[in-house]
Amino acid sequence: MKWAGGKTQLLDLFEARLPKPIKETKAIPRYLEPFVGGGAMFFFLKNHYRIDQSYLFDINADLIICYKVLQNNHLELIHTLEKINTEFWQRAETERKAFYYQIRELYNRQQKSFNYQVYSGAWVERAGFLVFLNKTCYNGLFRLNRQGEFNVPYGRYKKPKIYDPDTIKKANLALRNTQIYSGDFSESEKFVTPNSFVYLDPPYRPLNRTSSFTNYSKDGFSDLDQKRLAAYFQRLDQKGAYLMLSNSDPKNENPHDHFFETIYKGYRIERVPAKRHINCKARKRGVINELIIRNYS
Ligand SMILES: C[S@@+](CC[C@H](N)C(=O)[O-])C[C@H]1O[C@@H](n2cnc3c(N)ncnc32)[C@H](O)[C@@H]1O
Repeated sequence: MKWAGGKTQLLDLFEARLPKPIKETKAIPRYLEPFVGGGAMFFFLKNHYRIDQSYLFDINADLIICYKVLQNNHLELIHTLEKINTEFWQRAETERKAFYYQIRELYNRQQKSFNYQVYSGAWVERAGFLVFLNKTCYNGLFRLNRQGEFNVPYGRYKKPKIYDPDTIKKANLALRNTQIYSGDFSESEKFVTPNSFVYLDPPYRPLNRTSSFTNYSKDGFSDLDQKRLAAYFQRLDQKGAYLMLSNSDPKNENPHDHFFETIYKGYRIERVPAKRHINCKARKRGVINELIIRNYS
C-alpha cells in the first residue's frame, strides 16, 4: 500500500542505527511497531533479519483489516483484486473514473454496518476495495470526512498498478508469527519485554502550524498525544526495550521550536536529511530533516 509518511526512503538510515546486538546477530527476538501504516520498516526487517515474534498496531481499523486478510486469506484477496482489476481495465479511460467512484461508494456504504469485531469473508472484499482505492486514488491518500467516509478523489495515474500477486504472497509469508491489532499505540505496552525492539513512527507533528494548532491536528494526533507518546517511550525505556522513534523536525520551519528536545530530554536525538513532498519555506532552503530519537547508543 502507499501510505502517507511511508519510510522506504529512510530505511538505510534506520538500519545503520539498529541496536548493536541486532546488527551482530541479525536477529530480533521480539519486534513491535505501534504505528505500522504501510509497514516499510517491518517488511524490510523481515527480509533481512530473523524476527521471532512481531506485534503490529495501528488505530486505522480498515488498514488492519488488510493486514489480517493478507495473513489469513491472501489467495482470496488475490482473487478479489483480479476481478476488480479486470473490471477496471475492460472499461474505457473515462469510465474507469466512474468505476472508481462506484467502488468508493460501495466501500463507504459497507462501512456503516461493517462488523470489525468478527473476522469473516466480508473482510476479504473490504480489503480488496481498500487496496484498489489506495492504488487508484489521488496520491494514495487515506482521508475520511466527518461522517467517516473515504473521500479521496480519483488519482491521475495513467496506468495504476492495482495489485501484484507476488508481493501479496511475500507479505503473507512475512506476516506469519505476527500478531496484528487495531488500537491505540499504548495497547502495545503489555507485549514489550526487556530487549524487545520497538520502532515508533507516529503521525507527523505538522510543519506549517499556527498557534491555534497546538492541541489539535487534522489526523487526530495532537501535541498532547505527542507528549502521551513521550511518556510511553519513557515507560518502555524503563522496561529495558530498545526504542527508535522517527518524526518530522519542527526546526525545519522554526529553529527555535524545542518541542522534541523538551519531551525527549535525556535521549539521543539526531537529525537526518529526508526528501519530503511538502511545500514550505524550509524546502525552498533545501533542508528538510527528519528526527531519529533513540534510547541506546
Ligand atoms: C507516519 S504513519 C506510519 C507510516 C509507516 N511507518 C509506513 O512506513 O508506512 C502513522 C500511522 O499511525 C497511525 N495512528 C495514528 N494515531 C494513532 C494512535 N493513537 N495509535 C496507533 N496508531 C495511530 C495512523 O493510522 C498511521 O498509519
